[in-house]
Amino acid sequence: MKLIIASNNKGKIREYKDVLEPFGFQAVSQGEEHIHLEVEETGSTFEQNAALKARAIYDQSHCCVIADDSGLEVEALGGEPGLYSARYKGLPTEHERRLAVLKGLEGKENRHARFVTCICFIDEKGEEHLFTGIWNGIIAEREEGTNGFGYDPIFISEDGNGKTTASMPLSFKETHSHRAKAVKKLIAYLQSR
Ligand code: IMP
Repeated sequence: MKLIIASNNKGKIREYKDVLEPFGFQAVSQGEEHIHLEVEETGSTFEQNAALKARAIYDQSHCCVIADDSGLEVEALGGEPGLYSARYKGLPTEHERRLAVLKGLEGKENRHARFVTCICFIDEKGEEHLFTGIWNGIIAEREEGTNGFGYDPIFISEDGNGKTTASMPLSFKETHSHRAKAVKKLIAYLQSR
């Protein structure tokens, strides 16, 4: 089965190809299908944004499509950065966005946080199927580690032995992360069809 990945992000496309192809699914990017769209993320939930992106590509291709949306939710910051994780407070770099989270938590005892990924799969008939992965943890006192991206240097997962995700080998995220959990549910569903 062919699946179009609704993304222009090379890293994300590579990751999906790597996880789906061993299961016999042919993953192609929207670019490979000559669909040149940058869909605006105007939804108010991860689910809505993933569905918006998938639907836009489905409407042009009428093929099976996968899109996702992810972010970090920090309890004591009312769920921020959340949907705005990639552009938190309009700050231009990942480092500045991490510092903004650390600053927001200064003096706060509650450092609980979670990463969320929602994947939307649209099948050949145009029906939507949503798969969510959640990775619970806490926000570290300071940045640590150089692996990964985004908020990994300040996120200590509940299964991370007290280390930030950026201090763990990349293979750890491949099996434990929010994205890994959502992908696992997607693959189980695709195999059951
Ligand atoms: P996206 O929707 O997957 O592109 O993720 C949006 C933003 O959430 C990213 O730009 C990161 O700031 C943050 N994020 C999502 N997943 C991760 C992760 O696995 N580690 C660190 N940050 C992440």
